[in-house]
Amino acid sequence: MLRVGVLVSGGGTNLQAIIDSVKKGNLKIDIVTVVSSSERAYALERARGNGIEAVCISRKEYKEDFEAALIRHFKEREVELVVMAGFMVILGETFIREYKNKILNIHPSLIPSFCGEGMYGLKVHEAALKKGVKLTGATVHFVDEGTDTGPIVMQKAVAVKGGDTPETLQRRVMEEAEWEIYPEAVRLISEGELVIENNIVRRVVK
Ligand code: GRF
Repeated sequence: MLRVGVLVSGGGTNLQAIIDSVKKGNLKIDIVTVVSSSERAYALERARGNGIEAVCISRKEYKEDFEAALIRHFKEREVELVVMAGFMVILGETFIREYKNKILNIHPSLIPSFCGEGMYGLKVHEAALKKGVKLTGATVHFVDEGTDTGPIVMQKAVAVKGGDTPETLQRRVMEEAEWEIYPEAVRLISEGELVIENNIVRRVVK
């Protein structure tokens, strides 16, 4: 089974969606560790409540050794796929090179809209409402050295409704898109159904 390490910083609803999918038997992976950038992240409790190792590795504590500490932690556990689920730290080149095409992230918009530096959390949904788009959504992508620029794995559109606030839109995008496509993207990878060619993700016909 694919050995997965999850990086979190907050509530961990995407982590929960992945755990639920494993429990239902839809996703056959081994979540070997959950690492948080913050001791207070509720995601850590979700992991522990499901018998998964959960630790905090904070940049503040490790300073310039942060990435080396992360790599060491994942190597010791023989992690094969890194899943960023609301991880609020931008990973540096050392980590990204070490896990090239093996790091996934989810972004709450249809990339290339409303993404890039400074676009996170409610800001993404504020920007979508300001622009007046009628569809937004979520994107699962591989992580490269840029911000939200890596190969796109999966996307799902979500309707914007009249009267939406950034908060209501954020919730709908999570419920209707993120919690659905993240476990599915991990499943496709775990079953070897995807290849990356010239920075484009393609489905392998089996
Ligand atoms: C999600 O909106 C995700 O798209 C973004 O951060 C948020 C994480 O939420 N990258 P959660 O911690 O999974 O609940």
